[in-house]
Amino acid sequence: MTARTPLIAGNWKMNGSTESSQQLISSLCSGVSNDGDRNMLLCPPYPYLHIAAEALKNKAIMLGAQNIAMEPDSGAFTGEVSGLMLKNCGCQYVIVGHSERRALYGETDEVVSSKFIVAQAQGLQPILCVGETLEEREAGQTQNVVRRQIQKVIDSAGSTAFSSAVVAYEPVWAIGTGLTATPDQAQETHSFIRSLISEQDATIASLMQIIYGGSMKSENAKELLSMEDVDGGLVGGASLNAEEFLAIFQAA
Ligand code: 13P
Repeated sequence: MTARTPLIAGNWKMNGSTESSQQLISSLCSGVSNDGDRNMLLCPPYPYLHIAAEALKNKAIMLGAQNIAMEPDSGAFTGEVSGLMLKNCGCQYVIVGHSERRALYGETDEVVSSKFIVAQAQGLQPILCVGETLEEREAGQTQNVVRRQIQKVIDSAGSTAFSSAVVAYEPVWAIGTGLTATPDQAQETHSFIRSLISEQDATIASLMQIIYGGSMKSENAKELLSMEDVDGGLVGGASLNAEEFLAIFQAA
């Protein structure tokens, strides 16, 4: 086992029902053993967090949320959910800066870095998503985009903040499209991300988990996860199927 324990996280996005969530969790619980060699994390929609927390009590699966309010304190913010509330629901992690939030809900690098900071202030580990669009990749801008997205968080939170955070590299063109970054493409950007943090603090960089997201499934997981700087996966579609998700977990 390396210093970086693989993390396999399921981002359910806006999918499922009470019943299907309970079924999925129960199938996952029976398939996961607590050997400590890898960790599983589930990020269900907000309304199912309580159900999930109940079902995951004393189980070797962790709980996270898909989003968090950027406001640190409670108040008149209709529709928002605070870090404290997520903590109360049993969350240990929260996804920030997912490309769907950036593209569909206008979240800027500033908003994302505020959410990152608010999450950590509540003792939640942010999973900071970064990644380029197809257009940006074709224009040779992948590293510039990823650098800009990470630098904003370094500027606001400081590089030491990455000692309790996860970075997820999710090339936008690979999300939900069936297209996957090749293991070499993933490794190249993961290693670049680690080098960005390493410029600030080599120890933090070497311990930081950088996970890959974008059409990860059982058939490509092993190859991706075998790359040196790929420390896990942030899985969308395939995390809704217990058999698929467990196979990815086993591949880690
Ligand atoms: P897919 O695995 O469905 O491509 O989604 C990836 C993702 O966006 C995880 O956050």
